[in-house]
Amino acid sequence: MYINNIKLMNYRNYQSLELDFNKKINLIIGSNGQGKTNIVESITLMSIGKSFRTNKDKDLIMFNKDSLYTNCNFSRNGINKSIEVVVTKEKKGIKINGVSVKSLHELLGILNVVVFSPEDLKLVKDGPKERRSFIDKEISQVMPRYYSLLMDYNKTMNQRNILLKSNYIDKNLLDVYDLSLSKYGSEIYVFRNRFIEKLSAISNNLHRNLTLNKENLTIKYKNQLDIDDYSDADLIKELLYQKYKETIDSDLYNRNTKIGPHKDDISIHINDIDVRMFGSQGQQRTASISLKLSEIELIKQEVGDYPVLILDDVFSELDQDRQKMLVEKLGDVQMFVTSADPLHINILKELEYSVFHIENGKVISSENGGL
Ligand SMILES: Nc1ncnc2c1ncn2[C@@H]1O[C@H](COP(=O)(O)OP(=O)(O)O)[C@@H](O)[C@H]1O
Ligand SMILES: [Mg+2]
Repeated sequence: MYINNIKLMNYRNYQSLELDFNKKINLIIGSNGQGKTNIVESITLMSIGKSFRTNKDKDLIMFNKDSLYTNCNFSRNGINKSIEVVVTKEKKGIKINGVSVKSLHELLGILNVVVFSPEDLKLVKDGPKERRSFIDKEISQVMPRYYSLLMDYNKTMNQRNILLKSNYIDKNLLDVYDLSLSKYGSEIYVFRNRFIEKLSAISNNLHRNLTLNKENLTIKYKNQLDIDDYSDADLIKELLYQKYKETIDSDLYNRNTKIGPHKDDISIHINDIDVRMFGSQGQQRTASISLKLSEIELIKQEVGDYPVLILDDVFSELDQDRQKMLVEKLGDVQMFVTSADPLHINILKELEYSVFHIENGKVISSENGGL
């Protein structure tokens, strides 16, 4: 899929901006603090209904204004679509093809975007929480049902933890929570297992390419279930329910729930060595790139069209070989590359591209080049 154009009004430091994009590469160049990330951030507002930098929608409204408006026209599987977002201080309104949606849920998966920023280079080195969040975001994009499942699970988990912290423990209520958590939890395990299996195959392939066949990357689902077969959700539900019962004494003592998908992680190995523990920083970063870029192929497999790729300030973190590899390998993917370094245009010379020079919330010049 690709975005044809966007329009921003009172979005951060853009009072009014209209941009026509290249179907291939869009390079957004400017010094720090000029508004490069703001542009790509507005794309994620229209894709996932929020910024990839903050959960506070209000922060996106231009200082001293009451509301913002953004829209984009894009093509998905050859069909033209549009998304509009209005954010006021009180609420957010979203329209798809001119029709208002009732919940954010309906927006997910319409315009698929993969964002790659410097923090993502730490994906392998980071803690389990960051990796779970990576997994959750990805599955939600292609399976909106997963998103609501996760919300239900987290809500019930919070209620259970509140109960565990109270002075009087209502055993019946606890059982109601355990039953719900087992149900939601089992479905989450099945979704995640399916996702990680696919991710594993794709990232292995990508990592071979990135390392000229020297490194064999394997990732595995790490959880508390101790099973190999995830085909029977009912069985997992039963197993999880049993585990809640078995661990109730320690949960009561700790006043917290210690079993469930909220403790999941993935293990990451290169040539059978645990990269998190023993990998070099370079290996950890390359493995992070492989994992992150696998999303692109995965989304293509799930929805039939490539997502749009945003590389926010990440290009300069890569060496020239990797920069080249990236743009060549992703020839069919529409890219938005932000950078303070205009020299990056050199890498893209043989490809089709547009450059936008940004200064203080304005596009001061733009040019097209390449093929
Ligand atoms: N709500 C807002 N209203 C107006 N300007 C904003 C708002 N939020 C951020 N800015 C401005 O946006 C600029 C930062 O934009 P950003 O896209 O992050 O820059 P960069 O080019 O470094 O990626 C800063 O100048 C900041 O003052
Ligand atoms: Mg930036």
